[in-house]
Amino acid sequence: MSGEEMQEPDPSQLKKGVCLLLMFFALVLLTAFAYFLLFLNSSDTNVTSCPAVFNIAPAISGKAQGGVSVEQKNASYIRLPRMSLNDKHEYLLKEQCDLFSGQWINDPAGPAYTNASCNFIEDPQNCMKNGRPDTNYLYWRWKPYDCELPPFDPFKFMDAMKDKSWAFIGDSIFRNNIQSLICLLIKHILGKADLLYIVVEEPVEVYHDKSFKSRTWYFANHNFTVGLIFAPFLVKAELFEDDEGKAKSEAELHLDILEDKWTSQYNKYDYVIFSGGQWFLKSMIIWVNNTIVGCHNCKRNNLKELGIDCPYRKALQMVYEFMVSSDHKPLIFFRTWTPDHFEYGEWFSGGVCNRTTPYSEGQYKGKPIDHEIRTIEIQEFEKAVSMASQTGARLKLLDTFHLSLLRPDGHPGPYRTFIPLTRIRLLKFKMTAFIGACQGLSIHGMN
Ligand SMILES: *[C@@H]1O[C@H](CO)[C@@H](O)[C@H](O)[C@H]1NC(C)=O
Ligand SMILES: *[C@@H]1O[C@H](CO)[C@@H](O)[C@H](O)[C@H]1NC(C)=O
Ligand SMILES: *[C@@H]1O[C@H](CO)[C@@H](O)[C@H](O)[C@H]1NC(C)=O
Ligand SMILES: *[C@@H]1O[C@H](CO)[C@@H](O)[C@H](O)[C@H]1NC(C)=O
Ligand SMILES: *[C@@H]1O[C@H](CO)[C@@H](O)[C@H](O)[C@H]1NC(C)=O
Repeated sequence: MSGEEMQEPDPSQLKKGVCLLLMFFALVLLTAFAYFLLFLNSSDTNVTSCPAVFNIAPAISGKAQGGVSVEQKNASYIRLPRMSLNDKHEYLLKEQCDLFSGQWINDPAGPAYTNASCNFIEDPQNCMKNGRPDTNYLYWRWKPYDCELPPFDPFKFMDAMKDKSWAFIGDSIFRNNIQSLICLLIKHILGKADLLYIVVEEPVEVYHDKSFKSRTWYFANHNFTVGLIFAPFLVKAELFEDDEGKAKSEAELHLDILEDKWTSQYNKYDYVIFSGGQWFLKSMIIWVNNTIVGCHNCKRNNLKELGIDCPYRKALQMVYEFMVSSDHKPLIFFRTWTPDHFEYGEWFSGGVCNRTTPYSEGQYKGKPIDHEIRTIEIQEFEKAVSMASQTGARLKLLDTFHLSLLRPDGHPGPYRTFIPLTRIRLLKFKMTAFIGACQGLSIHGMN
C-alpha cells in the first residue's frame, strides 16, 4: 500500500468523553465470541506457522492463567473479569458492567466540544471546517447494555491526574485521541444567553520532534503530562516518507529491536497506552538480526513475502516482553485494532467512507483482516497477562474494536482537507481507512 493512504489512520471518534472514563476507572476485558473460538482453536497453529526466522516462542503457552479466566455467556460476547465503574452517586451501575458491549444511541445533547470551544482540533480533523455537510454523526453516545456511563467530568479527571503522566505509544490515531482528550478538558458550558467557557486547564506543548509526530503537553496547575510517542510499528523502523506521507520506499522494520523512542522514556510514565496494527499493512522490508528476512507487499522479487500476521505478532510479543519484565510498573493499556470502513472498493480502488449513521448491532461484522488482526491482538494480550501475573505488571485491555466497528460515519472521509461543495461530486476521493477524527467526536484511548 502506498504511504499516503495509510499514513494517517484517523482515530475513531466516539462521542463525548465516555470512553475516557473507561481508561481510568474500568477494567473491562472482553472479546467477541467468534474471535474467542477462533483463538482457542487456532492459537498454536498461528504461532507455529510463522517462519522460524521469527523465532517465536511464547513465554507461556497454553491457557491463560491468573486474571483472565473466561466466563462464557450466551451474549454475543465472551465476558472477562472486569471492574465496576466506581461511581456511587448519580448513576446506578450494575456491579459488573461490560463497558465495551453496548450500542450507539441517539444523543440530542450533542457533542462535548466543538471546533468553536476547542482550538486544539487540527485542520485534517476539522471536518466541519473542511465542508462536511451532514452533522448527524455528532449526536450519538455509547451506551453499554448493562449500565449507563456517567458523563465525562474533566474536573474529576484532572484531580485524579495530579502529578501523573500518560504516554500514548502508537500511530496517529493516538494523536487524534489526544486532541479529543484535550478538548474534553477544556470544558464548555452553555449559559442562558452566551456560550460560557470554563477552562479546566489548557496544556502547554513542552516538546515536539521535527515532524510534530511525537509531542508532549504539560498541564502546569495539575502537574500532569501527556506524551504522544510516534512509534507506529512499536519496533524499530526506518520510514521513508515525505512530509505528505508518500512512501519513497518501503519501511524497514527491525523485528528484533524495539523502538527506543518509547523504551527510553518508558520509566517516566505512570500510565502507558499502546496500540499497533495499521502500519503493518504497508509495504515493509523485514530485518531480523541485521539481516533482511523477507518483506510484506514489496516489489522485490527476491524477497519472501511474510504477510502481516507474523510480523505483527512478533512485534507485540517484543513489546509485552519488555513491559512485563521491566522493573517499572505503570498501568498499561493495550488498545485494540481499529477497523476501516471502506465500501464499494478498497482504499486503492475507489472505496468510499460516506455513511452518515452508525451501524446497528449485527449489521456489519468487519472484514477478514479485522478479525485476523484482532485475533492476534487478543491472543498476545492474554499470553502477556499470564506472564504479568508472575511479575506484577498491570495490563488492561481497552477493547474499542467493536464500538468503532459500528461507526462508519465517524471517518472524516474526504473532509480531511477543505472541499468546496461544488467539487465534491467530481472528486474521486482517496480516504484513509480508519474511523476518523471529526471534531465533536472523541474516543479516548481507542481508536
Ligand atoms: C440466554 O440464556 C438464558 C438462560 O440460560 C435464556 O433464557 C435466554 O433466552 C438466552 N438468550 C439468548 C439470546 O439466547
Ligand atoms: C467550525 O466549523 C464551522 C462549520 O460548521 C466553520 O464554518 C468554522 O470555520 C469552523 N471554525 C473553526 C475555528 O475551525
Ligand atoms: C510533579 O509530579 C512529579 C511526579 O510525577 C513529582 O516528582 C514532582 O515533584 C511534581 N512537581 C511538583 C511541582 O509538584
Ligand atoms: C546474528 O548474526 C550473527 C552474525 O551476523 C550470528 O553470529 C548470530 O548467531 C546471529 N544470531 C542469531 C540469534 O541468529
Ligand atoms: C456512498 O457512495 C456510494 C457509492 O458511490 C453511493 O451509492 C451511496 O449512495 C453513497 N451513500 C451516501 C450516504 O452518500
